[in-house]
Amino acid sequence: LEADKVRNFSIIAHIDHGKSTIADRILELTGTISKTGSNKQVGASPPTQMATRLSHNDVIMARPQVLDKLQVERERGITVKAQTATSFYTHEGVEYMLNLIDTPGHVDFSYEVSCSLAACQGTILVVDAAQGVQAQTLANFFLAFEKDLTVIPVLNKIDLPGAEVERCKAQMESLFDIAPEDVILVSGKTGLNIEQILHHVIQRVPPPSADREAPLRALVFDSWYDEYRGVIALVELMDGRMRPGDRLTSAATNLSYEVQELGVMYPEQRPTDGLYAGQVGYVVCNIKDRQEVRVGDTFYQRGKPVQALPGFKPAKAMVFSGLYPVAQIDYEALSAALDRLVLNDPAVSVARDVNAALGPGWRLGFLGILHMEVFSQRLEQEYDIQVLLTSPSVCFRVHTKQGELLEVESPDKFPALADIDFCEEPMVMGTIVHPQEYTGAMLSLCEDHRGVQKIKSASSGYATFDYEEIGYKVSDIVKVQIMLNGDPVDALSIMTHGSRAFSKGKALCQRLKETIPRLVDRPNVGQWIDPHWWAGWGGGGRGTHQLEVLGSHDHNPHIALHDSQLVEIAIQASAKNKIIARETVRPFRKDVTAKCYGGDITRKKKLLSRQKEGKKRMRAINSIQLPKV
Ligand code: GTP
Repeated sequence: LEADKVRNFSIIAHIDHGKSTIADRILELTGTISKTGSNKQVGASPPTQMATRLSHNDVIMARPQVLDKLQVERERGITVKAQTATSFYTHEGVEYMLNLIDTPGHVDFSYEVSCSLAACQGTILVVDAAQGVQAQTLANFFLAFEKDLTVIPVLNKIDLPGAEVERCKAQMESLFDIAPEDVILVSGKTGLNIEQILHHVIQRVPPPSADREAPLRALVFDSWYDEYRGVIALVELMDGRMRPGDRLTSAATNLSYEVQELGVMYPEQRPTDGLYAGQVGYVVCNIKDRQEVRVGDTFYQRGKPVQALPGFKPAKAMVFSGLYPVAQIDYEALSAALDRLVLNDPAVSVARDVNAALGPGWRLGFLGILHMEVFSQRLEQEYDIQVLLTSPSVCFRVHTKQGELLEVESPDKFPALADIDFCEEPMVMGTIVHPQEYTGAMLSLCEDHRGVQKIKSASSGYATFDYEEIGYKVSDIVKVQIMLNGDPVDALSIMTHGSRAFSKGKALCQRLKETIPRLVDRPNVGQWIDPHWWAGWGGGGRGTHQLEVLGSHDHNPHIALHDSQLVEIAIQASAKNKIIARETVRPFRKDVTAKCYGGDITRKKKLLSRQKEGKKRMRAINSIQLPKV
């Protein structure tokens, strides 16, 4: 199809306003998927037939959104990854290629949205008719507006009894200057008026201004790793054409590759014999090293260099956390998994790091806590590796008395009190959208809390929040040091504002008091624990508790805890060299002697088999989420 028959558009909205549902209806209407969500064959699926089948009285049963492909998306019911789907639609006798990108709604995934918008000329702005404009509606609208995209306004969920069509239209008019008569009223649930959206997309979204005859210029706007075929890049062809067998060069690395396969996402990969200017599709070049592909890169024909496209601003990480394998034996596997996952989530920043207690690992930067949680869940689900994440922290700036400026993202890098001149913390400009009656609650919330985590509850779930960073401000930042039997354990320590040190230190000690007995509590003998993990809990410290190495399995020594020798464990928190909280874990039962597992081989085997379970438990301990204390 010629470029003037192509429409590249995205769907943007606040979280849960119905983007993925509308995307499903569009794919059904165009015959790309059947109503049960399976991928249909391309070919003669006359759109008009589909349209009759999908009348607006046709209530479609709820089912998982087709474009929410990841397990984490289905489990959490949110989109975290933008997904592209190509479909074909005949309007007034002319066939069009529609490239639709479904985007995430949550602020933590806004990097995905901005990369996707670069491959579009238009966007469908969806607003939930019962909720009205929310914080991410505003943020996403302005992202699209800045990029000069044509906005197709849609009011969704008008089937709901609580739908307030007129109020929402008025909001959209006053906030976005959208004429009320331009707003399309739809229901993603019933399919009502979805066709109208497509008509508007075809009539109002401009075709990409692309020149097929010009030298190839393709923007890489997403990528992922395929076990067998290496890196798969999603591209928009700004100019030229691309065929299997072509030699491409990356403007970022100057490396060249041969195109093995290319095609469109329909909505899964469907090979074609060419991609042309204006189209969106995938390219496989047998690239094994993910470092060689960057989102924002430009591909051109080898030997025909072009001006590289501007690409994307790197994401600015807001929250940092240490990542370690539960068992060090998984280090290499985790390293490979991390490489691959970061390819698919370029908003994550990665730096190698070694923690005195937890061993070698990485320092990761995320756009927010949800982003961090989703990333670690994806590591576990998609790569089957259990990971430990340390307490998340923002990046503080510490000015030392020696005149140095340190960027400190982790408590173990926080300098000694005596060396600190002053600290600064990053600030954000927050936008809270809420019903008027909650203004008082919102104001006191802002005053009382340095964080924003409680907004939903304080406003009965109606307020929403968005932010942009606005630089650093001098602040009273302290390290709350956790000590087990007097030994500092940086892996458990946190950095926080002075006003919160006491409450956080106390809460951390209480959490640890609940956690440590679970770590060593066991029906029989020998808690099997990873040495690095144990070290993180003060093991190998001053000998108040003794560890015994019982053997080596896959280079991973197993260590048993002599409960007969366990004495009281003192958990303390200190800040500014003062103890601010203390809890005590009482000694454990002495009903099993160390001899039990001295040399008994069957006993050892039994314990070995329990190692797996132990690991699971360790993870559970990690997931008590110290970060949230
Ligand atoms: P994120 O991608 O996580 O931001 O969400 P989303 O905007 O893609 O929303 P999604 O399509 O997942 O829909 C959110 C919820 O609203 C789901 O439970 C849908 O079934 C429901 N929903 C979507 N459209 C309609 C509609 O037109 N009417 C009603 N009643 N419910 C709808």
